[in-house]
Amino acid sequence: MSKVRNGGGGNPGVAMRIGGVCPGGDGFAPSALGTREHWDAVYERELHTFQEYGDTGEIWFGEESMNRLIRWMQKYKIPLDASVLDIGTGNGVFLVELLSGRIIEKEGLSNIKLKVEDFLNLSTKLSGFHVCIDKGTFDAISLNPDNAIEKRKQYVKSLSGVLKVKGFFLITSCNWTKEELLNEFSEGFELFEELPTPKFSFGGRSGNSVAALVFQKM
Ligand SMILES: C[S@@+](CC[C@H](N)C(=O)[O-])C[C@H]1O[C@@H](n2cnc3c(N)ncnc32)[C@H](O)[C@@H]1O
Repeated sequence: MSKVRNGGGGNPGVAMRIGGVCPGGDGFAPSALGTREHWDAVYERELHTFQEYGDTGEIWFGEESMNRLIRWMQKYKIPLDASVLDIGTGNGVFLVELLSGRIIEKEGLSNIKLKVEDFLNLSTKLSGFHVCIDKGTFDAISLNPDNAIEKRKQYVKSLSGVLKVKGFFLITSCNWTKEELLNEFSEGFELFEELPTPKFSFGGRSGNSVAALVFQKM
């Protein structure tokens, strides 16, 4: 089990979407949340807080976002020894949660391998993963001030390279709707399942604040 991490700890921010027009042409205003400097600083603070107070840090999209993924993996009987890549793992809470209970008691955290890598420019050959997880990383990359459109395309390429054929990609996003994600990952991936997420209503319309989709690599 590996996790690709771009720097240190995390703290939720606000993704700004400008109705219709934006510098990158995709509706998003570039933001510090799309930069490595931001995340390095955030995780450095989280690490410090962890060392000082034992606080494990921010759970991006909340506990339920982790449980939802774990339930799905149990439902589809993803074997305990399957290789799982948590892309942009942040403080790593999800992987610890995934291994919690039996495995951690028996083997500690030895099944988690940490790698500091830019997922858009991988320096080592990562491939053959059964499952790739993304919880907020594609969102962050979409806010990169430096050619986010190109970076999103590179993300899809990197994802194709690391995931095995028929492997699963589980993405949770607060910036992209289901339809938009289907479009972003239309090449080489097909929708396997949409995971239920909380709904909200406003002004007579309802929607989901978060989209959670499972894709399968073709
Ligand atoms: C919103 S946080 C989510 C962190 C974690 N997935 C979670 O659920 O708590 C976004 C993460 O994406 C990572 N990230 C952003 N750009 C990246 C890149 N090019 N390569 C690897 N990680 C990246 C950041 O370091 C950060 O950990």
